[in-house]
Amino acid sequence: MAVLITGGTGYIGSHTVVEMLNNDYEVIIVDNLSNSKIDVLDKIYKITGKKVKFYQYDLCDETLVDKLFNENKIDAVIHFAGLKAVGESTMKPIEYYYNNILSTLNLIKVMKKNDVKKIIFSSSATVYGKQDKFPIEEGFKLNEPTNPYGKTKLYIENILKDLYKSDSSWDITLLRYFNPIGAHESGLIGEVPNGIPNNLMPYINQVATGKREKLFVFGNDYDTVDGTGVRDYIHVCDLAYGHLCALKHLKGLNIYNLGTGNGYSVLEIVKAYERVNNVKIKYEIAPRREGDIDTCYASPKKAEDEIGFKCTRDLDEMCRSSYNFEKKNNKL
Ligand code: NAD
Ligand code: WQD
Repeated sequence: MAVLITGGTGYIGSHTVVEMLNNDYEVIIVDNLSNSKIDVLDKIYKITGKKVKFYQYDLCDETLVDKLFNENKIDAVIHFAGLKAVGESTMKPIEYYYNNILSTLNLIKVMKKNDVKKIIFSSSATVYGKQDKFPIEEGFKLNEPTNPYGKTKLYIENILKDLYKSDSSWDITLLRYFNPIGAHESGLIGEVPNGIPNNLMPYINQVATGKREKLFVFGNDYDTVDGTGVRDYIHVCDLAYGHLCALKHLKGLNIYNLGTGNGYSVLEIVKAYERVNNVKIKYEIAPRREGDIDTCYASPKKAEDEIGFKCTRDLDEMCRSSYNFEKKNNKL
């Protein structure tokens, strides 16, 4: 079976490519390298011993998407490609709507033309917005995200739902990721943030390796175990495995949370990271970050019951592999 993986040189995409290759799928990657590097392909080869066909195409160019499908026999698509920085999206909303939505429209238009009707889409827990009941289940009412990035995820979910309504011969799975962290055990692939990291784990990594002086903890007056924000962190390799589960059960329209079901506070993450890696993470309590919610964690039950998804890596493993990758790759 040949799977087209869009955004396959990116953070989650590259780990999923490894998972697919290890399970004997044929993989074709398309990525415009706007947020990843070509050397990821060599690293994938080092890990799996398998070569992947790669196209440096922008999915916003429909003629290139056409060419891709004309040149390859594709059975299914896993669609990771997109811009993902929440803060940047508030400053460049048009770029985010243009890139994320147009790339998806081009993709599904060309898929339809070629009668390829199987797609897995990278959605996000951000589509739930602020909830007051936990754990979050897929059936909960969605609250419109406050930033353009999150809105692109919600709008694309709606586009794909409408597509299915119009033609139920499509097989569409929407995967709502919680907070992916960690890296492949080899330390060869992982998350490489651009500039000052927005997300917690990449920031902690840079404090650990001396690139940044201290972590700013955004708020300690939330209604949580220690006042700091609680999230459902999931190891990126478990997340990658979730795509394999989804692909094996791709039938009809389905939505699954990919999270562990455990919520950890910012300070719990800091403590685990310090303990596991034997490093000190200096931090300072700072004001709340605009748009943040206090708590967010998943019910992973539906994914477990219906597609056999289960996480096997704990928080210690997430912290260990994050630091391992950082030391090897993101040099001072
Ligand atoms: P990433 O930036 O590492 O990977 C995305 C890849 O898409 C990059 O390699 C980038 O070059 C490519 N890309 C972007 N626009 C493109 C275009 N028009 N044409 C071709 N390639 C393009 O991001 P990631 O963390 O691996 O996230 C993958 C997907 O998962 C994204 O859709 C993201 O929104 C979603 N997601 C990520 C998180 C997270 O915390 N990392 C959480 C929830 C959902
Ligand atoms: C986690 C916790 C922060 C940085 C974002 C997106 C979401 C999804 C995943 C794509 C929060 C705190 C953080 C720092 C801190 N991405 N924090 N100091 O905000 O849960 O989710 O990434 O879909 O859409 O919104 O993740 O890692 O930024 O924050 O104290 O320097 O860490 O306040 O409580 P978030 P995060």
